Amino acid sequence: MEKVLITRRISDNAVKLIQEAGFEVTIYAASKNLSQQELIERCAGHCALLSVGSNRLDEHFFKSCPQIKAIALMSVGYDKVDIASARKFAVPISNTPDVLNEATADIAFLLMLSVARKAFYMHKTIERGEWTFFDPLKHLGQEIYGKTLGVFGLGRIGFEMAKKAKYAYGMNIIYHNRSSNVKAEEALQAKYVTLDELLRQSDVVTVHANLSEETKEIFDRNAFEKMKPSAIFINAARGGIHHEGDLITALQNQVIWGAGLDVTNPEPMRSDNPLLQMENVCVLPHIGSATQETREKMAMMAATNLVAALRGEQMPQIIDREFYLAK
Ligand code: DGY
Repeated sequence: MEKVLITRRISDNAVKLIQEAGFEVTIYAASKNLSQQELIERCAGHCALLSVGSNRLDEHFFKSCPQIKAIALMSVGYDKVDIASARKFAVPISNTPDVLNEATADIAFLLMLSVARKAFYMHKTIERGEWTFFDPLKHLGQEIYGKTLGVFGLGRIGFEMAKKAKYAYGMNIIYHNRSSNVKAEEALQAKYVTLDELLRQSDVVTVHANLSEETKEIFDRNAFEKMKPSAIFINAARGGIHHEGDLITALQNQVIWGAGLDVTNPEPMRSDNPLLQMENVCVLPHIGSATQETREKMAMMAATNLVAALRGEQMPQIIDREFYLAK
């Protein structure tokens, strides 16, 4: 029987789906990231990989694992995958788009409100026994009703975030993308702006773009200096899109007002990171898609894609849309 490697424990239903399709499943169940070399070694004797977590799948990996016929990622992001090499080695690779849009946008929205009202920090003051008397001038947050939300990367997750901001808080939506998003312009009256305009006009900047050479650390000192001193910066996409040292400096010098991060640069964030002590900062450990419902859908989508490829069918969520045409 051919074998499939899964790099983490995932939903039983997804594992069953692969087994019922006639494959033996090996699960790497340790709570430890695999190095690339360890992953290559574990792939030996397996015909396909369901990759959970941020495994680097580059030319070296494909060269070292010629027996791997298909890979399903259990993530929407694929910044650790060299898609051109996958094409060269004829390995179809799928991701899990759409099913996590709402859960991930919920986390961005939660961070926006939590930063605006200093929620995480205020929780810590209670733990420290600092809830003493009512001071009408202390710990004041800010309201976001009717303010401007600047979405950097208005794709499917950015759309969900913009929708919540528009309908719940009457926020005015502006965005910056590689291409315009007609659906968002029609449904949310979102306005396309240059990156400079986005930085200068937004009360809240929310990042939902992919990490690429183009977006790597694009939110650096220069970008923060263009933002309003009252602005809130939210990143629920990839930590590599902001320069964390510059973000810390911008917050310490009150260049911007606050920040909410579900992703950090690097990950995991160290417990002595100064951001964790700041009143106007909220940090979460990359939990955008972490709901029972969403993780179940992601696992089932990844398993369905893998089984399709192993049956010689097209993967429904193939990342490289030209892959089958190029074959
Ligand atoms: C994704 O799906 O890309 C999430 O960020 C989890 O890695």
